Amino acid sequence: MNLLDYNPSPRIESLARRLKDRDSISILFICLGNICRSPAADAIMRDKVADRPDCRIGEIDSAGIGSWHVGDLPDARMRAHGRQRGLKVNHVCRQVRESDFDRFDIIIGMDEGNLRNLHKLAKTREDDDKIYAMAEFFSPGSRWYEVPDPYYDGDEGFETVLDLLEEGTQNILDTLG
Ligand code: 4NP
Repeated sequence: MNLLDYNPSPRIESLARRLKDRDSISILFICLGNICRSPAADAIMRDKVADRPDCRIGEIDSAGIGSWHVGDLPDARMRAHGRQRGLKVNHVCRQVRESDFDRFDIIIGMDEGNLRNLHKLAKTREDDDKIYAMAEFFSPGSRWYEVPDPYYDGDEGFETVLDLLEEGTQNILDTLG
């Protein structure tokens, strides 16, 4: 094994065990505005799943902690950077809701603020157990502990986000898919 290969933590191994008999696994990606990071994660995951029709990832969706952009298409910068990688980043923004905890098996937050807000929304221990950080799917040696908000950044910020999401979604697919 390469030293930089993904090495699931005991928490992710326990998740994989919990889901091992499931035919289908649903995933919800969360960020603050649902116009940059989480719609990109959604698009990348869909792209990977389309190439792996035998995998168990079923429903894929994304939502935001905030409601500022509900009904909007993703930020034009994220759509453009995604397009350069052959991705269609075209999710229509929606806000996360309590019922998402019933509908999805795994809810993945992009940063620490997202995770804090998701834990506030969780009503039960089972809800809490569905919340994971995208960074839990980064390979060892990553210098990133979260997917940084690119909203006030330039092109480089968007490229970093897409690189991190490529890595995280691939490791989700390899570990749980
Ligand atoms: P996202 O980025 O959470 O990756 O969608 C943001 C988009 C909009 C805002 C903040 C972050 N906003 O403050 O409107």
